Amino acid sequence: MNPQITLTKLYQMKKNGEKIVALTAYDYPFAKMVDESGVHIILVGDSLGMVVQGETSTLPVTMDEMIYHTRIVARAVKNAMVIGDMPFLSYQTGIETAVHNAGRFLKETGAAAVKLEGGAGVSDTIRAITKASIPVQAHIGLTPQSVHQMGGFKVQRDEDRLLADAREVEAAGAFSVVLEGIPADIAKKITDVLSIPTIGIGAGPDCDGQILVLHDLLGLHDRHLPKFVKQYAALGKAARESIAEYAAEVQNGEFPSKEHCY
Ligand code: KIV
Repeated sequence: MNPQITLTKLYQMKKNGEKIVALTAYDYPFAKMVDESGVHIILVGDSLGMVVQGETSTLPVTMDEMIYHTRIVARAVKNAMVIGDMPFLSYQTGIETAVHNAGRFLKETGAAAVKLEGGAGVSDTIRAITKASIPVQAHIGLTPQSVHQMGGFKVQRDEDRLLADAREVEAAGAFSVVLEGIPADIAKKITDVLSIPTIGIGAGPDCDGQILVLHDLLGLHDRHLPKFVKQYAALGKAARESIAEYAAEVQNGEFPSKEHCY
């Protein structure tokens, strides 16, 4: 474990106006590709509940599942900062539990930091975790673990509240904050007032960095994609075509041919 991307480097990037590239990953081979492509932050997101486990929300994801995925991602990564995402109920039930679970990411996986959702309401938790020397990335705006409270995956537009949340998480010691599903002009205001880097997803171009869910970017699934996603490939289609070709060749006796036999 020797990450080249440190907190100091991320602060410098913000100061120099150099964009921070972040992406999710959930397993060894993809984490290796993402790392080797020069991404600065790899988030093992609880979005794995939706894109890997086939759930309709992130709520069922457990600590043990996050630990497993973060460990196999961290094993592949040589350069990026690996962040483990704290799943639903791993930090909401008490500060001691939150510090313990955050610590598990660093102790058991090789991650360098954790992320948790919420603004002012979780500032005491962020304070306690950072006091235990565990760097915390905050996440405000559209916070998927609050899907039921928000009445769906909805863009958040309350500027005063978003600015207050951003200021609170910075004051509590967060080293960075994810801004999800908020209008671009509000994200710009937050980015301008904070000294920590903002990482946007559905928050416009003026954040200090951007993050997407890997499976969305690569077109690995058929799910509905939010407006903010740009699909850079259609790997799901390519995979289905390759598997169908294999199946046809097994059935018609074309595979295995002589070259694949001992
Ligand atoms: O779980 C996740 O992947 C996330 C990112 C989309 C920010 O929280």
